[in-house]
Amino acid sequence: MALYSEKVMDHFKHPRNVGTIENADGVGEVGNAKCGDIMKIYLKIDDGIISDVKFETFGCGSAIASSSMATEMIKGKPLSEALQLTNKAVAEALDGLPAHKMHCSVLAEEAIKAAVKDYYDKNGIKYDEKIFGSCDSCCHSCEI
Ligand code: FES
Repeated sequence: MALYSEKVMDHFKHPRNVGTIENADGVGEVGNAKCGDIMKIYLKIDDGIISDVKFETFGCGSAIASSSMATEMIKGKPLSEALQLTNKAVAEALDGLPAHKMHCSVLAEEAIKAAVKDYYDKNGIKYDEKIFGSCDSCCHSCEI
């Protein structure tokens, strides 16, 4: 079996939503604790709906593919749904990632959460810190 699924290869070779958004409503930048790579997500939000999303990454092919898929999965969705997106769901949508590359998919999930938090903070919207502080959806790859 090939190491990477066809979907991973497709999103790696033709990533969706790469770039930046001028005057984005929320911007999130995170680093991967395991490899030191970086991900930045830009959100345009209208009435609580993510009307546009873009990403930039200094990350590997798996990070590019999972960010491309993650942005497709949250575009047009309410913020509440975007906050529920887990790296595991993204990896499943890509028909899987090799175990040693699961940590790469965490970048997109964390950057999306950071961008939503930025939007909430900029607009004085109250939220429960726990939604951003917990590691419930963690793949635990940082502990390997
Ligand atoms: Fe760093 Fe994949 S090795 S994101």
